[in-house]
Amino acid sequence: MDKMAVSVMETGEDAFRKIFKLYKRRNPSPDFSDVIDFSKCVTNDKIVPVKLDPAAVSDGDAAKVGLRPVKEWKAFNLQGYPGFLFISNPFLRGSQLFWVRQCLKTYPQKPNVCNLDMHMSHTDTQDIWAKSVPNLSSSVGKRVPRTLLDRLRWVTLGYHYNWNSKTYSANHYTPFPTELHLLSYQIATACGFPGFIAEAGILNYYKSDSSLGIHVDDAELDHSHPLLSFSFGQSAIFLLGGIHRQESPTAMYMHSGDLMIMSGQSRLFYHAMPRIVPTHQKVEALETDQCGWHSGWQGSTVMEQVSEEDWTVCARYIHSSRVNMTVRQVLGQGQSFPETFSLPRHAQEHQEDNEDHMKRRCRSDSFNIKNT
Ligand code: OGA
Ligand code: MN
Repeated sequence: MDKMAVSVMETGEDAFRKIFKLYKRRNPSPDFSDVIDFSKCVTNDKIVPVKLDPAAVSDGDAAKVGLRPVKEWKAFNLQGYPGFLFISNPFLRGSQLFWVRQCLKTYPQKPNVCNLDMHMSHTDTQDIWAKSVPNLSSSVGKRVPRTLLDRLRWVTLGYHYNWNSKTYSANHYTPFPTELHLLSYQIATACGFPGFIAEAGILNYYKSDSSLGIHVDDAELDHSHPLLSFSFGQSAIFLLGGIHRQESPTAMYMHSGDLMIMSGQSRLFYHAMPRIVPTHQKVEALETDQCGWHSGWQGSTVMEQVSEEDWTVCARYIHSSRVNMTVRQVLGQGQSFPETFSLPRHAQEHQEDNEDHMKRRCRSDSFNIKNT
């Protein structure tokens, strides 16, 4: 037995978990000086700037989904993490707001699935936004019940991820939002993955004390396609490890608008989000007037104007929260789900009762740490 295995057995703790706990710690607060900040444009022997093919996506096609011309994107590889690409906020000024509004107002709507559906009827979760907006607290000192929007923890799109069985299935699919498919398609194309099909999405909604435990995203049936991750709102620390839990992870900041593309070997690397880091500088998604991108772009777009009222609600939410969207292609070209036996009804119900599981996944690290 090697030395590493002995020390893991002795302490019950692997290198990843140790670092996870370090960054999650509140008192005393950890030292953040080793956390890579791609927005600061420092390069060292670990951070490798990447030139993407500026002709892969036309400036017009990029602008249509709210992205800057590809030639302006600041993209980086990380030494030791093959297939991992970090793009420091490629969004046009003012366009993040549209995507934040989609995450808060549009994507939680039926037929998409959210954590509240696990213990509430569909009529009760029908319009989370409309039910929440009138009750947003404005009176100081008065105790108001938390709104549905405050209680939103996750939304799934397309093939709906089942948190219990950790699988997707052919018979639990609803149409993937076309504009989010197009955004993902353009990004994948720019990064050298033409023909990407967005088939599943997981949106996570984080409060300032939330974290996401150590895990691998391997439920997709085909791993040759990249996984795209979008961050909006408050910043966070992301830990990227390796194929084994024993490998010590690298820490980096994810700021609003940042993208990560996990492909190749990195597609199946362990990762986690131990901590939200309050953004002291203004969050770009909020600072511009809501129609900033309109003025510079006359062509067609998938993005609609965000109303002043929606902007106010999104701004307030994002002021203390973070939203992460991951977009995945589940099936390879020509691939389909294997035939499955249909379960007896009571077993299906049991399978769908996954609220508990998600609570653990989102609120604490205990589930993933003990079970991965
Ligand atoms: C995920 C994930 C990380 C994040 O949803 O699978 O790894 O930054 N999210 O929230
Ligand atoms: Mn993940």
